[in-house]
Amino acid sequence: MNKQLITLVGTNTQLLIEVGDFAEILYWGNALPTGHVTPTERIALARPVPYGRLDNDVSMTLSPELARGVFSSPGLEGHRGAQDWAPAFVIEQYEQQGDSLTLTSVDSVAGLRLVSEIALDSHDVVKTRHTLTNLKSGLYTVNRLANTLPMPARAQELMTYYGRWVHEFQTERLPLLHGGYVQENRRGRTSHEHYPALVAGTPHFGELQGDVWGFHFAWSGNHRLRVDAKTDGRRYMQAEVIYLPGEINLAENESLTTPWLYASYSGNGLNQMSQQFHRHVRGAILPAEFHQKQRPIHLNTWEGIYFDHDPSYIMSMASQSAQMGVERFIIDDGWFKGRNGDKAGLGDWFLCQEKYPEGLHQVVEHVNQLGMEFGLWFEPEMINKNSDLYRNHPDWLLAVEGYEQPTGRNQYVIDLQNQAAFDYLFERLDHFLSTYNIAYIKWDMNREVVQPGHLGQAAAHAQTQRYYELVDKVRAKHPSVEIESCAAGGGRIDYEVLKRTHRFWASDNNDALERQTIQRGMSYFFPPEVMGSHIGASHCHSTRRRHSIEFRGLTALFGHMGIELDPVAECDEEKQGFERYIELHKTLRPLLHSGTSWRIPTDDQAHLVHAVVSDDQREAVVLLAQLAMPTHALSGHLRIPGLANNTRYRVQVLDKPSNYQDIVNYQPPWTEEGCELSGSWCAEVGLTMPVLDAETAMLIKLEAID
Ligand code: GLA
Repeated sequence: MNKQLITLVGTNTQLLIEVGDFAEILYWGNALPTGHVTPTERIALARPVPYGRLDNDVSMTLSPELARGVFSSPGLEGHRGAQDWAPAFVIEQYEQQGDSLTLTSVDSVAGLRLVSEIALDSHDVVKTRHTLTNLKSGLYTVNRLANTLPMPARAQELMTYYGRWVHEFQTERLPLLHGGYVQENRRGRTSHEHYPALVAGTPHFGELQGDVWGFHFAWSGNHRLRVDAKTDGRRYMQAEVIYLPGEINLAENESLTTPWLYASYSGNGLNQMSQQFHRHVRGAILPAEFHQKQRPIHLNTWEGIYFDHDPSYIMSMASQSAQMGVERFIIDDGWFKGRNGDKAGLGDWFLCQEKYPEGLHQVVEHVNQLGMEFGLWFEPEMINKNSDLYRNHPDWLLAVEGYEQPTGRNQYVIDLQNQAAFDYLFERLDHFLSTYNIAYIKWDMNREVVQPGHLGQAAAHAQTQRYYELVDKVRAKHPSVEIESCAAGGGRIDYEVLKRTHRFWASDNNDALERQTIQRGMSYFFPPEVMGSHIGASHCHSTRRRHSIEFRGLTALFGHMGIELDPVAECDEEKQGFERYIELHKTLRPLLHSGTSWRIPTDDQAHLVHAVVSDDQREAVVLLAQLAMPTHALSGHLRIPGLANNTRYRVQVLDKPSNYQDIVNYQPPWTEEGCELSGSWCAEVGLTMPVLDAETAMLIKLEAID
């Protein structure tokens, strides 16, 4: 095919793709004023061919091929009985429709077709995936099928993720000079350890400066992410599902489609990248039907009562919650048959008659009469051996016969490819959603997957797909029910699960100090409204630290807010605090859940500052969190970006620590009296930082006055 230059244009960014026998991204960066590229400009991109390597120029294609002399990690690895293992696809046709390009390539020798999709939308988010089809007789075994995107040679630093239970979304910087970075997740869920995203950029890229390319692989199971600096200096990012041995065998005319890889370029650092991802999440990922609804304030029973359920006590918790302004009351784990601790009961999705002798209706009706929605916890994919379900169906385990696999939280996983098991789970969920007025379910998944076997064959990929099918089936029958994705906190947080859910339980850690960094790490790819963020008890259950109600309240404010404790057992002072922050959240949530988020760099590492600016730039809120002791006696200036340069704003403090005036001789007067500043003053000059104690916070509001 004659070479053609295809341009995909977003709002700020652009992709230039050359399509001939194969497709190569020649440019991915800021939008060019002319949009298209002339032949002369194309000449400017022709590469030299140095001695000592192949005699021809070798392109980094959308799916790198060994057969074309690309020595990088190939886009496809597979074989048909040890044949057809090094395919070279030739593009037969392509179609550009609006912001997306679809390329159909065939290798007639190997008998394979590869359809590659790539789009760049108005939020400046690229998405790409491949579909491989076996065109010949004989099973084609796929070992790998990856999505590949190139980056310019100036991408020389990475921001990657690490974490664990109660310590999700931690970030780390690494140089990208030679070789590369590989992240492999084999835990069978998105995982706390290997959140499927990373950012590459120019050296020392920051929140407000540098070129950055952010990547998010939308898959809730095993994955591999790779970034390579090739030996010739070119760089690329690759994301794929890890297929276990023998897991994928395509019969003639059968296809395999990869998950979507999402990516976004920003020439102005990480904030712009995140803002592009946030707009994409709001406009193209989150289920649209709930956009108009304000997100209700939660009270979740877990840390309040754990497995200790008494309906009349739970109803008094609900009454207290309603008085404090809670809008949705959720009964967490412990309500179903045999569930008195974490060793038994999973799988037996029948109401526990001993705990709820009068049934659940009276509790649900009580909650509804108080004006609150009712929610219920499930962990559908899991099973305890100590359950009727296991005693009746020991063969429903996702396991390999002949082995005893390790347990996780004393439980096992149900094989969702087993149709009877799948139907049972759907029937149970459907029963509860049809019988009670349930507005929300918290869908949990508390263990990692070991030896995922279906009829002896590896089944990790299919298990994840069947999980999506189960959620989709529940949603199709009960479209108004909202779902939270939880996996022992933040173990299943990604864009694919967000297409069918509404909220994430970001972490089992409600410690406000820890939450500051967890929520910050999550904010690179997710807007605040999908981050479930609860005020826990003053004595945090996961870290044993103590925090004031102000610090806990302000930290939970910047997400989808809730309370996670027993309100009946709390003292009046705490209850007044909950009321205050619930009220504040209700006032601010239209702004927090629709505006533009900014992570604001500060002069001192001891601070973490977040802001949300309304789309019309008429108002903003800024949270100044003091994580540790200030490094110096004076902490420099708070400079707030994102406001309209020529607009004047009234700046006032909405909330601060109760001992604020006592900790120094004199605090900056603007924190008491407020002041009026222009947007450009806020961005360039800023406001003097006050002095705060470690583990406290201050909330600042800016409102346009002209
Ligand atoms: C997981 C969740 C918690 C809670 C418990 C219940 O750990 O993350 O929020 O629901 O399960 O067992």
